[in-house]
Order: sequence, then structure tokens, then C-alpha cells
Amino acid sequence: DDTLYLLETQPTRLGIFQEMIKKTSMYSHPLIHHLMDPEAHKEIRENSDDKQVVTEIMARCFTPTLITTTSWEGFHFVGHEIRITEAMDCYGAVVWPSALVLCYFLETNAKQYNMIDKNVIEIGAGTGLVSIVASLLGAHVTATDLPELLGNLQYNISRNTKMKSKHLPQVKELSWGVALDKNFPRSSNNFDYILAADVVYAHPFLEELLVTFDHLCKETTIIIWVMKFRLEKENKFVDRFKELFDLEEISSFPSLDIKLYKAMKKNRRSTISSQLLL
Ligand SMILES: C[S@@+](CC[C@H](N)C(=O)[O-])C[C@H]1O[C@@H](n2cnc3c(N)ncnc32)[C@H](O)[C@@H]1O
Repeated sequence: DDTLYLLETQPTRLGIFQEMIKKTSMYSHPLIHHLMDPEAHKEIRENSDDKQVVTEIMARCFTPTLITTTSWEGFHFVGHEIRITEAMDCYGAVVWPSALVLCYFLETNAKQYNMIDKNVIEIGAGTGLVSIVASLLGAHVTATDLPELLGNLQYNISRNTKMKSKHLPQVKELSWGVALDKNFPRSSNNFDYILAADVVYAHPFLEELLVTFDHLCKETTIIIWVMKFRLEKENKFVDRFKELFDLEEISSFPSLDIKLYKAMKKNRRSTISSQLLL
């Protein structure tokens, strides 16, 4: 039995306990900041535009009532309790707020963006939460990321979709811009949706990311992309993105600096050449 503590329910003890776990590196990640930091709640309260929906999105996340040796975080989507294990030594191996925004969008817009039997690929899937939600909504999902993320990604996906999803999700390596023709030949790419949450930040592969979006995208493919704005670099990426794709802002969450976009290939009769990297 790996149980260390049983969380008690009296408010004062709970407060002390929250302070304690907030201080441990294991729990100091972006969602815990929003769940436990009174300032973050204040920030949400003070923004009247997105206050209600952001609170609703963040409420989908919960921390375990039993503290165990393996850290996991819980989420409620599509009528399921989803348990995500995070590998804290890796940047992508925590759940980022953009992922929650995308999951919430998929769940609450399931009629308009119907996932049932659709071919869906997620890039930069991290812990796999978005892919799990798409799979629980009935999609054929391929969750992708860098090789070092795949073990944890596969674990989370199997644990949360086995005997629950209509189609068994796949986990595949996809390093942006690398061996795309070999691993994802254009002729066999047939994705209805490309999902991406928080894939644009100060990393050196932004051009490769753009090439990857282009490579995976057919004329009919819809990209649903949630973007966290941190630096000027991100605005520039949006401008570059708009050269290749018709971009539509679907929702904005100012208190999180997050926007949700829908995009489709521009000039949908001509394929953008893979000379983008030249
Ligand atoms: C900020 S995390 C977001 C993870 C997840 N989508 C979420 O929102 O919780 C960025 C993700 O992009 C992945 N990533 C970064 N550079 C990459 C690259 N060159 N090729 C493929 N994936 C990459 C990381 O491994 C990580 O999973």
C-alpha cells in the first residue's frame, strides 16, 4: 500500500495541507497554481468576461484525496474520472491549462465538432489528456510527442481509455519536422482533426512545427489549436501561421492569456510545398 497520508477534511487542516503540498516540487505546476493560489482565483474573479467559464474549466481538475508515492492528477470530462500521471522531470509531462481549455471545448461542443469515428491526431500531446478526451468522445486518436514522452503518454492513455473508448488510441513518435514523409506519408494522412494545446513557446522548432501542421493537414482537415500567449514570439508565430492557414479565433480567455483557434488550409487547392524549411 503506497498511501502516505489520508487528507482530512477540516478546513484549517486542509489549508495547512494545501500549503504543504504546494511547496513540494511535485505539485508546483501550472494547474495547481490556479487551483490553490488565492491570487490566481482573485485574478479570475476580477476578470468579468471569462470569470465564469475559466472557473468552470479549472473545476474539472482535482487533486487526489489520498497522497500516494506516484503523483497523479484527476480530471472530470465526458462523464469520466481521468487520472493523469505526470513525469516532473520533463517539460511536456505536466498538464498545461491550454489542455484543459481544449478538453472543455471538445466536451461542450461535441455536436458541432463531432468526434465520433473521426480520425484525430494530437501533436505535442504531453501527458495525453486531450487525446484521452477525444478518444472518450469516440474518435480514432493518434497521440504524438517526442520519444522521451511516449512511455508516460502510453501509460496514461491505456489507463484511461481501456474498456471505455470505442476505438483504441495509438501513440506514435512525432518530432516536429522530422521524417514526416517516412512516418506520416501525405498519401495516407487522412485526419479530420488536428489537435494542439500549448505547442508554441520559446522553443527552437517553431518553423518545424509549422511544417508539421502543413504536412498533416488535408484540404478538409480542421485544426483546433489552443495557444497560450507569453512573449512576442508567439504573436509572430500566429502571423506566420496565418500565411498558410485560414485562422478563426473561436474563444478567448484573457485571464489565462489563452486563445482557442480553428484553422483550415489556405488556398485549399494547392499543397504548400515542403520547401518551407529552406
Ligand atoms: C507546453 S507542453 C504542452 C503539453 C500538452 N499539450 C498540454 O497542453 O498539457 C509542449 C509539448 O510539446 C512537445 N514538444 C516540444 N517540442 C517538440 C518537438 N520538437 N517535437 C514534438 N513535440 C514537441 C513537448 O514534449 C510537450 O509535450
